[in-house]
Amino acid sequence: MNVLVIGNGGREHAIVQALKKSPKVDKIFAMKGNAGIGELAELVNVNYCDVKAVGDWVDAHKEIDYTVIAPDDPLALGLADELESRGHRVFGPRKNAAIIEASKAFSKELMKKYNIPTAKYETFSDYEEAKAYVETCDIPVVLKADGLALGKGVLICKTREEALDGIKEMMLDKKFGSAGNKVVVEEFLEGPEVSALAFTDGKSMKPMITSCDHKRAFDNDEGLNTGGMGTFSPAPFYGEKTEKEVMEKIMIPTMNAMNAEGRTFKGVLYFGLMKTKDGMKVIEYNSRFGDPETQVLLPMLKTDLMEIFEAITDERLADIDIEWESGACVCVVLASGGYPVAYEKGKEITFGDLDKDVILCHAGTKMKDGKLVTDGGRVLGVCAKGATIEEARKKAYANVEKISFEGMHYRKDIGIKYRDVERE
Ligand code: AMP
Ligand code: GLY
Repeated sequence: MNVLVIGNGGREHAIVQALKKSPKVDKIFAMKGNAGIGELAELVNVNYCDVKAVGDWVDAHKEIDYTVIAPDDPLALGLADELESRGHRVFGPRKNAAIIEASKAFSKELMKKYNIPTAKYETFSDYEEAKAYVETCDIPVVLKADGLALGKGVLICKTREEALDGIKEMMLDKKFGSAGNKVVVEEFLEGPEVSALAFTDGKSMKPMITSCDHKRAFDNDEGLNTGGMGTFSPAPFYGEKTEKEVMEKIMIPTMNAMNAEGRTFKGVLYFGLMKTKDGMKVIEYNSRFGDPETQVLLPMLKTDLMEIFEAITDERLADIDIEWESGACVCVVLASGGYPVAYEKGKEITFGDLDKDVILCHAGTKMKDGKLVTDGGRVLGVCAKGATIEEARKKAYANVEKISFEGMHYRKDIGIKYRDVERE
């Protein structure tokens, strides 16, 4: 079959690499893709947030049998609904289910209604009311813009002054645009974080192996929030007891809650979780694969990804076994100088002799005059497997050192955190 993959980052390159291994997949198309994806797929230059234009393109290209929607924005805009209504097969939740990521106010309300453990919160649409609340609430406090803000609409405020400034920036100055029309003011939680992703068809839930992201730009979790500067898998503290707790108290209740609301979720549900002193709690939901989590998850997947996608579309996920390699995988993101704020594009990328088994996931790259150049903030994910996280980490960094472009920066501490957290 011929598959169209929507998206253009490292996550999509990892998805395309996994699909390429499937005996079921003949040809892959990618909208819009990047230079790495372009080596495996035919690139299609259509704006994937224009859902009608994507629908028209798929209608016109009868050879496409299946479409995988990877990023959050086209899902929130209803691309799955648009393609389904035109009779096409898709992977990705409908708009009414993608809201679990697209609106923090919705997801907080859902968790409250169905007793899913999360931080306590209040939601405000009125600046004066939010201000009055923040003047007396416990500090630190967390402010979240309601809508999608590329992972950047969250402010952790250590002082009351910061919190009052934050409310003003979001609600009056519209720093995150309309995402800040509504703001969630949330209790500050502490503990190690894990990205627990699961495949679901609304009837069953099959967790993937776990991973840990590094959202801040610099070592020791300093600097601004980014889309993610690196990941490792598995989370060292996530043992059988935790897995059972998450399944029983968080994953299954979320699937059931979405069904009860008439918003059946089919796709990948991403649970951003924190291990607090009161147990595992949900920090956020995403309606899709994570980036760069996917870069360390899919290389470890032994089962045919296309088979899983189709099983979800056809609601027979319960019938298939999903197998993972044991061992570990680490992904170090190479970013453009200045990312996540202002950065230049078009810098030539050069490579030394990389190890054969290192996996490169292209994010912001393109070909220009026969040369590979940077084309975004996050440029490449350098991924390596090993028997342990330490082994994978050493291999990833040994290869990172063989890659360069002007201004390149990366974190040197991916794969170190949580080593000392007790595994339960
Ligand atoms: P989010 O976009 O909701 O994942 O938030 C971005 C990051 O902010 C998370 O990965 C956490 O590190 C942090 N964060 C979000 N909510 C809280 C909270 N209630 N307490 C502490 N940290 C939080
Ligand atoms: N790495 C975080 C995310 O994909 O949202």
